[in-house]
Amino acid sequence: MSLAIDKENYLLHKLHSLTGIIPVGYYMVQHLVLNSFTIAGPEKFNAVIGFFESMPKFFLLTLEVCAIWLPLVFHAVYGVFIVSRAKPNYFGSVYGWSQNLMYTLQRWTGIFLFLFLIVHVVTTTGAKYLKGSASVIEFDAWYTKLTSLHYIWLIFYMAGVAAASYHLAYGLWNFGIRWGITVSDKAQNTMQRFALGFFIVVTLIGWGALGGFLIHGNHTTPAESTSGQAQVSRTHSQLLATR
Ligand code: HEM
Ligand code: HEM
Repeated sequence: MSLAIDKENYLLHKLHSLTGIIPVGYYMVQHLVLNSFTIAGPEKFNAVIGFFESMPKFFLLTLEVCAIWLPLVFHAVYGVFIVSRAKPNYFGSVYGWSQNLMYTLQRWTGIFLFLFLIVHVVTTTGAKYLKGSASVIEFDAWYTKLTSLHYIWLIFYMAGVAAASYHLAYGLWNFGIRWGITVSDKAQNTMQRFALGFFIVVTLIGWGALGGFLIHGNHTTPAESTSGQAQVSRTHSQLLATR
C-alpha cells in the first residue's frame, strides 16, 4: 500500500518537475519577452495583443487551457501540496547552508507566485473574457494600472517578475540534478552560474517590460492609441505640461 503511494508520488513529482520547465517555464520566458515590446512603444505591445486576439476564439481558448492553464494549475496545486508536507531538504546535507537557503526561497517564491498568478490572471485574461474586450489588457490600461494607487501595482509586478524568474532559475538547476543531467560537481557548478545569469537576464527583461509602460505611457498620442484610456493619460500629461 505505502509502496503504491510512494510510486504515485514519485511519478506526480516527476510530472510536477517537468511541467515547471515545459510548458510553464517556457511560456513565462516567451511571455516576458513579448511583454518587453513595450520598450519599442505602445503600438508594438498592442500588436502582440492583437496577434493573439486575431486567432480564432476556439483555437486561442484551447491553446490557453491545454498549453497554459492545465499544466500551471497542476504545477501550482501540487507545488502547494509539496510545500505543505514540509519535506526536509535532501540536497541540504550535501550542499550546505546557502544551498538550503536557496532551496527554501524557491518554495517561498512558489507560494507567492500562487497568489500573484491568481490576481494577475483574474485581472488580465479573466477581465478580458468578462468584459468581452481586449482593451483591459492593452498598453493604456497597463499604464493606468501601474501608475495608480501610489505605484503599488508596479511594486507588485516587479516582485512577481523577480519571484517567477528566481523560481524558474533555481528550478533549472534543481531539474538538472533531479533528472540526472548534471551529475558531476563541475557540471553542477556550471549550471549554477548559468542559472544565476538566467535569473538576472529574465528579471531585467520583465522589469524592462514594466519600464516600457512608464517611459511611453505619458507620450501616447491619439493616433497611437487604440483605446479611450490613452486619451486619459495624454490629457493628464498635457495638463501637467501647461502648469
Ligand atoms: C511584466 C510583467 C507582466 C505583464 C505586463 C504581463 C501581461 C499579461 C497580459 C497582457 C496577459 C493577458 C493575455 C491574454 O489574455 O491574451 C497576461 C496573462 C497571463 N500572464 Fe502575464 N504578464 C506579466 C508577468 C507575468 C508573469 C511573471 C507570469 C508568470 C508565469 C505571468 C503569467 C501569465 C499567465 C499564466 C497568463 C494567462 C495566460 C492566458 O490565459 O492567455 N505573467 N499577462
Ligand atoms: C503558481 C505557483 C507555483 C507553486 C506553488 C510552485 C511550487 C513549486 C515547488 C514547491 C517546487 C519544488 C519542488 C520540489 O522541491 O521538488 C517547484 C519547482 C519548480 N517550479 Fe514551481 N511553483 C509555482 C509556479 C511556477 C512557475 C510559474 C514556474 C515557471 C516559471 C515554475 C517552475 C518550476 C520549476 C522549473 C521547478 C523545478 C522542478 C524540479 O525541482 O525539478 N513554477 N515549484
